[in-house]
Amino acid sequence: MPEPPRRVVLVGFMGAGKSTVGPLVARDLGWDFLDMDTRIEEKAGCAIADVFRDQGEPAFRALELEVAEEAAARTRLVIAAGGGAFVQAATRKVLQRGAVTVWLQCDIATIAARVPADGLRPLATNRAIMRALLTERESSYQLADVAMEASEGTAESIARRVIARLASRGIEGSQSAG
Ligand code: S3P
Repeated sequence: MPEPPRRVVLVGFMGAGKSTVGPLVARDLGWDFLDMDTRIEEKAGCAIADVFRDQGEPAFRALELEVAEEAAARTRLVIAAGGGAFVQAATRKVLQRGAVTVWLQCDIATIAARVPADGLRPLATNRAIMRALLTERESSYQLADVAMEASEGTAESIARRVIARLASRGIEGSQSAG
């Protein structure tokens, strides 16, 4: 029998709800939750926008890979990946190992409404670039094990749907396990 997956990784574009849905999925599984962006900021000692501005995107991507490697050493962990993490081949490979990857799929109108162009997400400041990125990244997100429409519904309802899909992949919530 193959080992059951040890991690769940939520992937998808900025504003798809990974950081909101992730803790709810973790709670229902009785697992820990890790937000990659938060961990990157801890390691960098500054905001993501500052890393992009002062060190450039490649430095950010290197930190992101380090955080993915740290996360991959843990078990019973739900991970909210940053929107670009699954697009980087090396980082994607690390995130895929021993995990079920779930793409929270969102349409551009929902994303544009949810993600403010306030500079906190450097790649969302220019809306034309943001739209182009979404199209460009689709083929990477499609590599996730599970694709789930996440434009509509509450975070709780999306989390419930994620949990239902995980059951068929050998991951049972602590509640459903009794
Ligand atoms: C990025 C998405 C952000 C963050 C950084 C880069 C991207 O994460 O990692 O601003 O490349 O799409 P969220 O998807 O959590 O906003």
